[in-house]
Amino acid sequence: MLCDLLLSVLLLFFVAITSSAAPTTLAKTQIVCNPHITSPKKYAKWAMGSTHNVTWDIINIPPEKISSRGVLLLGHGSRSNENLNISHPLATDFPINHGWVSVTVPHGIEPRSDYMIVLFGDSGNVSPPFHVVHEMRY
Ligand SMILES: *[C@@H]1O[C@H](CO)[C@@H](O)[C@H](O)[C@H]1NC(C)=O
Ligand SMILES: *[C@@H]1O[C@H](CO)[C@@H](O)[C@H](O)[C@H]1NC(C)=O
Repeated sequence: MLCDLLLSVLLLFFVAITSSAAPTTLAKTQIVCNPHITSPKKYAKWAMGSTHNVTWDIINIPPEKISSRGVLLLGHGSRSNENLNISHPLATDFPINHGWVSVTVPHGIEPRSDYMIVLFGDSGNVSPPFHVVHEMRY
């Protein structure tokens, strides 16, 4: 199931970058770029409609991957069942080597405490679980 999801996501990713030569590059290389997500942090609370930077480590990105583009998906649940929202990526076609991309938390999703963000370069990396709430209360 997870493999099927990964496959669909990778296909989506390929579609998103058809203008570049990346698919053949991805197909022939064994180097995997799998950056560690540094934000959202575990148990962060993000309100619907609010804008946040998703950030990741760029120090270990190999030179071959410097020009890779990424896709960010929202999921929830567990590592074995991520319920990734493939049809509505949070961000697409951004440069992985920037180390961050700005996303707006969608309205109309279910408030949950087990949301996660998955960053796809050519392999997925998962953020810690975080909360999405209707609004921030101080
Ligand atoms: C995201 O990061 C960029 C670069 O560091 C910064 O200019 C921008 O203000 C940040 N946006 C948010 C919403 O934090
Ligand atoms: C995917 O995201 C869209 C837009 O935020 C939302 O309307 C839809 O309900 C989500 N689908 C799932 C399966 O979570």
